[in-house]
Amino acid sequence: MGDADAMVVLDALRGCVGAAQVLTAATDTAAYNEDWRRKYHGRALAVVCPGSTAEVAAVMRVATAHRVPVVAQGGNTGMSGGATPDASGRQIVLSTRRLNRIRHIDAANDTLVAEAGVVLQAVQEAARAAGRLFPLALAAQGSCTIGGNLATNAGGVAVLRYGSMRDLTLGVEVVTPDGRIWDGLRGLRKDNTGYDLKQLYIGSEGTLGIITAASLKLFPQPRATLTALMALPSLDDAVRLLAEARSAMGAGLTAFEVISAPCVPLLQRHFPALRWPFAEPHPVVVLVELSDPEDEAHARALLERLLGAELDAGRVLDGVVAESLQQTQALWALRECLSEAQALEGAHIKHDICVPASAMAAFVADAGQALQQAAPGARVAWFGHLGDGNLHFNVLAPPGQDAAAFVARQDEINRLVHDRVAACGGSISAEHGLGQLRRDENARYKSPVELALMHTLKAALDPLGLMAPGKVLQT
Ligand code: FAD
Ligand code: MLT
Ligand code: ZN
Repeated sequence: MGDADAMVVLDALRGCVGAAQVLTAATDTAAYNEDWRRKYHGRALAVVCPGSTAEVAAVMRVATAHRVPVVAQGGNTGMSGGATPDASGRQIVLSTRRLNRIRHIDAANDTLVAEAGVVLQAVQEAARAAGRLFPLALAAQGSCTIGGNLATNAGGVAVLRYGSMRDLTLGVEVVTPDGRIWDGLRGLRKDNTGYDLKQLYIGSEGTLGIITAASLKLFPQPRATLTALMALPSLDDAVRLLAEARSAMGAGLTAFEVISAPCVPLLQRHFPALRWPFAEPHPVVVLVELSDPEDEAHARALLERLLGAELDAGRVLDGVVAESLQQTQALWALRECLSEAQALEGAHIKHDICVPASAMAAFVADAGQALQQAAPGARVAWFGHLGDGNLHFNVLAPPGQDAAAFVARQDEINRLVHDRVAACGGSISAEHGLGQLRRDENARYKSPVELALMHTLKAALDPLGLMAPGKVLQT
């Protein structure tokens, strides 16, 4: 795009949203041009901040008229580089930060309608104020947005009980690439009137259209929640404990998170104020959360009975049940700070795999062994949502080795891990999405038929290829 064309586009965009909402100065656009881990860098023609669905539609009409590619961005907390523009200077970033209204809460119908730019925590708080629960929870909840959660089909720490964003959404409002508005904000739990279009947009990572609002499911607030940390001899034991906990607690089991031993020194180094509760090093630690419809005494009895039986049988080595809200928060902080602790430790190779629970321990042992052969001393600091079969199987450089040089081996390390994931029928992205990080890896593991169907949908809904080109699918 020449300078004169760029000026025409910028003027047209200013006409849609007002000059103040079209950012072009480097100081204003810098934060939008790279992801939070600073792994991906781009250069947008402009960052455009519409304040309503109608303004989003107007922006998209300009984009279509001038063939300008568009990258949607919410809180920019994504893990796969999906929200970062490319370096061409031709793409615009469409920031949803001004689409920040909660439009409606219907407590009797257990639904809440929020615009795409509402921060997840604000939705949780609005639900709580209405005496209800919006259960999506993840460590970035103070900055990620509902639009980003939908576009990535976010998971987090309560999927085991409530499901991921796909399960929590009853309807969406979408602006198509050519600027039409689809009002699909239904609050219905049953609706068999044809294709379920909302599910196409959920998880589409900005490649099909802009999600501008959603109708979300609410739930009753549990009367009590109780958290415990348990140390175990092996991952096999943790998988077995998951089955035990499910039987003992049923739907009350809301989180079952796992932390491997190599994560602990990272926490201690980068978050020295956090107190690790066990004196001994243990191979595996799980964080269990129980939500109880009765009261805290009932929850405590259940959790302590489970822990006691496991300790007596020697299947759990040590354990602690939180005694207060402060202790609960302290236990959760150990889990929630892991992502940042790893980022602070230096560049590393991230994996977001999902395998059947029955295959989990063998996969970790096999992939770990192969990694040690390929890169002796590499630290495999895995953690994640064991209750969903989802591990963040992250690989850090051997101590003392240059992190950047190690990360340059990403393709080789990915192959080694992802081939083993594929061999046990798993997924190379459980919850973070493909973005640009896993686009080519996905093309390697998906069947030609499935890829062709995805390309067909993309061509039907975004015929000019303007939405996030180069993300999710190879162009
Ligand atoms: P962004 O990063 O801005 O965008 C993500 C993708 O969505 C991009 O492809 C973007 O183009 C697209 N997009 C954004 N808004 C829209 C829209 N309105 N319409 C269309 N496309 C859009 N994720 C999990 O699933 N589970 C976790 O447990 C988890 N833990 C995390 C912990 C930390 C500390 C951090 C930093 C991140 C974590 N994440 C997790 C990843 C991230 O928070 C989620 O992917 C989140 O859903 C992204 O929301 P966002 O608003 O920041 O989206
Ligand atoms: C988390 O579960 O904390 C994030 O999804 C993980 C990550 O950093 O890989
Ligand atoms: Zn996660």
